[in-house]
Amino acid sequence: MHVLGIETSCDETAAAVVGDDRRILADVVLSQLEEHRPFGGIVPEIAARAHLEHVDRLVAEAMRRAAMSFADLDAIAATGGPGLIGGVMVGVMTAKAIALAAGKPFLAVNHLEGHALTARLTHGIAFPYLLLLASGGHCQLLAVLGVGDYRRLVTTIADAAGEAFDKVAKMIGLGYPGGPAVERAAAAGDPVRFALPRPMRGKPGCDFSFSGLKNAVRLLVESLPQPLSVQDGADVAAGFQAAVAESIADRTRRAVVEARERWPTLSHLVVAGGVAANACLRQTLVEVAAQAGLAFLAPPLGLCTDNAAMIAWAGIERLRLGQQDGLDFAPRPRWPLDPTAAKARGAGVKA
Ligand code: KG4
Ligand code: ZN
Repeated sequence: MHVLGIETSCDETAAAVVGDDRRILADVVLSQLEEHRPFGGIVPEIAARAHLEHVDRLVAEAMRRAAMSFADLDAIAATGGPGLIGGVMVGVMTAKAIALAAGKPFLAVNHLEGHALTARLTHGIAFPYLLLLASGGHCQLLAVLGVGDYRRLVTTIADAAGEAFDKVAKMIGLGYPGGPAVERAAAAGDPVRFALPRPMRGKPGCDFSFSGLKNAVRLLVESLPQPLSVQDGADVAAGFQAAVAESIADRTRRAVVEARERWPTLSHLVVAGGVAANACLRQTLVEVAAQAGLAFLAPPLGLCTDNAAMIAWAGIERLRLGQQDGLDFAPRPRWPLDPTAAKARGAGVKA
């Protein structure tokens, strides 16, 4: 079984062909970083136009690398949401057109389900497991119980972790995207020079929120001599990074305890999303998993960040269960994985 996947929900245009034997035959990703860099963040209209401009070429390139024609495919899957709606529409329309022309099933995949099932593509692990998804758009802890069966244990009530990294980078005069820049600066910094708050630490049953921390960083930066010296910037970056890592670790510890009680066969703590690239956070989570007796698993970075292989794979998982979607599927800007979870409140809530 082979599925073509298309991902266009944020600022990466991507196409991939994946087999049900977990082999990735093609995986092409085009980052729009340079288009958005002058604006210091993602501009939805620019993203949508860039997807439109590049998606056909990327699909053709993926098919060429896989040495396949559309007739050889078993289905076409595209991210159907959540995400920037202009981009999602481009991917969904492309996939529907190919499916219709080739007479193949179409699947609209929840982008978060793509992230959630990646560990089964890369490592073939069994359900249930715990997933921390920390990216520019999302920050949640999910129990992954089966295909289409997720429980959201923790989510963010304001910015996602990656957004907080990007905003703090701006405050200390580093470029976009901010995460990698903050991590590089932090390497030369002293994480304990400035006392920064640990968001939500110790609070029971609470969600992520990085807005208090972000404000504390803003006030701190304003109180320092301007322009900020390299050392001051490095110390702020290191303090912020340590606070985020500790805050996420604290939430994760609590989620592990809750998940263990509800699903005793829980085996792995899996991380995904661009923020999972952060070595300080990773190290903290390795310790959290070890203390809880869970195996720690981080798929290769290219499959942690947005890509189309995860969309093709989620398509395969659903197709194997006999599922497909109609050509009347409407793209969804919001699409929570766990419809039973209480609606998160806050300005930055994405799903
Ligand atoms: O998963 P991703 O590539 O795209 C989506 O948001 O879907 O995540 C990008 C986010 C950005 O906010 C970026 O600043 C952050 O991940 N990021 C990092 C690091 N690398 C990327 N944050 C902290 N440390 C890093 N090394
Ligand atoms: Zn993503």
